[in-house]
Amino acid sequence: MNSQPIGIFDSGIGGLTVAHAISEAMPNETLIYFGDTAHMPYGDKSKDSIRFYAEQITNYLLKNEHCKCIVIACNTASAAAYEYLRDAFKNIIPVINVIDPIIEEVIADDQIKRVGIIATKTTIASGIYQEKLTRRKASLEYSALATPLLAPMIEEGFYNDKISHEIIYSYLAQPELKNIDALILGCTHYPLIKEEIKAFYKQRIKVIDSTTIVANKVKAILEKEGLLSEKRMAPDKYYVSDYTDSFEKTTSVFFGSAINLELKNIWQTK
Ligand code: DGL
Repeated sequence: MNSQPIGIFDSGIGGLTVAHAISEAMPNETLIYFGDTAHMPYGDKSKDSIRFYAEQITNYLLKNEHCKCIVIACNTASAAAYEYLRDAFKNIIPVINVIDPIIEEVIADDQIKRVGIIATKTTIASGIYQEKLTRRKASLEYSALATPLLAPMIEEGFYNDKISHEIIYSYLAQPELKNIDALILGCTHYPLIKEEIKAFYKQRIKVIDSTTIVANKVKAILEKEGLLSEKRMAPDKYYVSDYTDSFEKTTSVFFGSAINLELKNIWQTK
């Protein structure tokens, strides 16, 4: 069991930021990544559609790739489908989302009194961050802003340039994000613009993304369950449900080094 791979999925290639952090934190682990590029963006899909895709992907990673745990490396899918998957695969396989580890990080930091959240429309509309933060720490103030242009902007290669600067600054200047002392980057694409965001705030606030925090959580869960691998058994695999040259090129930006994408059709009829 221990040498079986970790299954990771996202709506597309943004979750590679999390996959990279996991591979850095646990070099002995084999990763199977599935980017549902045929159905991205998840950010404006219904909860039902996202659940359907997420369940099919989880079944594939479990049954065909024999993964020992599933990491939902997408805030939108975590918001729409985590509880559903956790219950559906209870006592079968641990399912880990990218939202709870961030909530834990925020509530443990007593310096944070008012936190902002930026994410896709579906994640913000789900109210999941807002609800979990208040439930865990009633004294915490929060404000949330949907920033739907950011994920497509990054995917199209606009970051650290004039266009990204304009868009990021115009979102961050919105009244919702005034007087915050921390900002949650509630989308797995956003680590790529973390430095631009920190620059907007002149490094004065804490900017929290899911990469290392989630990787450490996955490690802790595998350790607790006795599932850590002592030796890497196979190379990682990176699948997408729709392949284009542009995805192939962009992957290295998200992962930090070149990786090969393979097309994989896993869909069964609804
Ligand atoms: N990476 C996804 C997330 O973390 C956003 C991209 C999408 O809309 O599919 O929410």
